[in-house]
Amino acid sequence: MTWKLTLLLTSILLLYSSSLAAELTDKAASCNACHAAENQQATKAPALAGQQQPYLKKQLLQFQSGERGSSAEDSTGQVMAAVAKQLTAAEVEALSRYFSALAADRPKVELKAEQQEPALLDKGRRVYIGSCGACHGNKAQGNLELKAPALTILSQDYLLLQLQHFQTGVRGSNSADKPGRQMAMMSRTLSEADKQAVVAYLMTGL
Ligand code: HEC
Ligand code: HEC
Repeated sequence: MTWKLTLLLTSILLLYSSSLAAELTDKAASCNACHAAENQQATKAPALAGQQQPYLKKQLLQFQSGERGSSAEDSTGQVMAAVAKQLTAAEVEALSRYFSALAADRPKVELKAEQQEPALLDKGRRVYIGSCGACHGNKAQGNLELKAPALTILSQDYLLLQLQHFQTGVRGSNSADKPGRQMAMMSRTLSEADKQAVVAYLMTGL
């Protein structure tokens, strides 16, 4: 190959990849209209920054296939499913990589006085160690091998809603979804008091 041809090819490639990068940033900005930290409370969208890439990708594919977000009882899932259905396979791959590579942020929370009761937090710690830590990690950082996501980045409201969705079969009821089924089975061992306690414990910065 002559040097001129090499130069030409290199500049075409550079142009192409910079326009791809610009497209990705535009797409990510559209996600952040709901998922940015300052918008999460209003939109009920969870944090994506720092979440495991295979987990984010799996969820986007499930929103696309209707395995997640198609139940009439899942209004937040329906919103996200409509967005996911607009994405190409390449965008699912690129966006899950993009968000996963960002630094994770803990949600800023104001715990109510009753959520700071030592007895409640102690119960939450026991529930967490006994029923969650083996899969989600001792610091709730997640476990890639077990396909269990990080929980530290999630808000109280989102955590409680997802636990309820697993319990009622809105999530994790497809027979082909082994990680979802494992989590659904686990969620059904929790009482209402266990859920409140474990979520308060997750918010205290374990
Ligand atoms: C209109 C608001 C909105 C927009 C825009 C949006 N999302 Fe969402 N997204 C949500 C909501 C709400 C949920 C929570 C669904 C639930 O409760 O199950 C969610 C959930 C998710 C999840 C699941 C996360 C988890 O922890 O399980 C992923 C992944 C996701 N969104 C990715 C994206 C990407 C990528 C984009 C941009 C292409 C995007 N979202 C744009 C509202 C939005
Ligand atoms: C047997 C392993 C296992 C145990 C035990 C377990 N989980 Fe999970 N959990 C998972 C897996 C795997 C997923 C991902 C499911 C999916 O891909 O949809 C998950 C998902 C979740 C989600 C959804 C996160 C999101 O971003 O939407 C929450 C919330 C959660 N788990 C909380 C808990 C809590 C709280 C406990 C303890 C009471 C617990 N889990 C125990 C394996 C487990």
